[in-house]
Amino acid sequence: MSDSALQNRRILLIIGGGIAAYKCLELIRRLRDKGARVRTILTEAGAQFVTPLSVGTLTGEPVFQSLFDLTREAEIGHIELSRDADLLVVAPATADLMAKMANGLTGDLATTTLLATDKPVLIAPAMNVRMWAHRATQRNLEQLMADGVEIVGPNEGPMACNEYGFVRMAEPAEILAAIEQHFSENAFKGELPLKGIKALVTSGPTHEPIDPVRYLANRSSGKQGYAIATALARLGAETVLVSGPTNLPPPPGVTVKNVETAREMLAACEASLPVDVAVCAAAVADWRVDVDATQKIKKEAGAKAPDLRLIENPDILATISKLTANRPPLVVGFAAETEKVVEHAVAKRARKGCDWIVANDVSPETGVMGGELNTVHLITRDGQEDWPLLPKQAVAERLARRILAHFTNKDKNA
Ligand code: C5P
Repeated sequence: MSDSALQNRRILLIIGGGIAAYKCLELIRRLRDKGARVRTILTEAGAQFVTPLSVGTLTGEPVFQSLFDLTREAEIGHIELSRDADLLVVAPATADLMAKMANGLTGDLATTTLLATDKPVLIAPAMNVRMWAHRATQRNLEQLMADGVEIVGPNEGPMACNEYGFVRMAEPAEILAAIEQHFSENAFKGELPLKGIKALVTSGPTHEPIDPVRYLANRSSGKQGYAIATALARLGAETVLVSGPTNLPPPPGVTVKNVETAREMLAACEASLPVDVAVCAAAVADWRVDVDATQKIKKEAGAKAPDLRLIENPDILATISKLTANRPPLVVGFAAETEKVVEHAVAKRARKGCDWIVANDVSPETGVMGGELNTVHLITRDGQEDWPLLPKQAVAERLARRILAHFTNKDKNA
């Protein structure tokens, strides 16, 4: 991206009350180096961590602090403050600020401005790890995402202990990149940058019949794959979702092919080729029963339990990756690992023959098992990217943008 993406952009930076506020000083400097104009609102709590003098010196603008500063209200009111910005950035976005934003609460200059604005908003959360993982914060995060708020980070902190650790605010360079990304995406607005790209996504579990009423299955909800199909379709990709049985509604703008078994899933995938990108997020059953009974197996009194012999199912990801004809140019697999996450994922990428692996860290110490959050590493030919702790929807959106970057060749590492 050219350095001019931020030239003359007007950023309104709202500095919340957290130790990470100090990083805003560096962020301001970097934004100004790129030619952006930065105005700031410093919350009362934020002013406990950085001084108005240092913020004002770096921005070269007055620092706005109080809703009731009448002189300043007369010069430039909070409506004007938000109207005169291209993007509002909240950093650090504390649990309190996120809760107020999600619920439309006001009370000070920062929250009043955030409620009064019709401009895009980017937040950089930072807080205690338990506060971040709390249902209330996750609910607020979901709400903010549904409201169109953009999110950068947070990153996992050095967590000596889960109880007292922090999820750290994204680094100034990461926030800067998210701001640049925002402006480059806005350049796409209405254009559907993945238009012309065909995508295939697998999702959900498979059901492997034992007899007409019983089956082997797993607990996959299908949420991650549905979110990926949604994100790709939203960017304009012609998207086919091959889904095992789930309770999820079909994503808008996506062609859904419902299947039950691994063999049906493979057949539906093969029938959907050729595509430009295949994302295999399904939790395909590794085994099936060798012969499924045509009639319900009866539990006769005194009879011994049936012997079920399991045989291996086809590996859809490996099959697609190793096709000689119609092999999609980009094949992405998933890997859920509990230990040596990256090492195992790198080996899996080689074994399956896919191009990228999204490695999902489900080790107990992440505290994300069974939750809505994912800690993800993207393994490509050129190495690994460590993504912050994110909701599944945010993982999907980030992956879709990464796929876009791959196809538009913006990303040299793709
Ligand atoms: O080998 P493992 O199940 O850990 O690999 C996970 C990846 O392989 C996922 O992308 C999953 O969708 C895919 N897979 C598949 N068919 C199988 C088993 C796994 O496509 N039979």
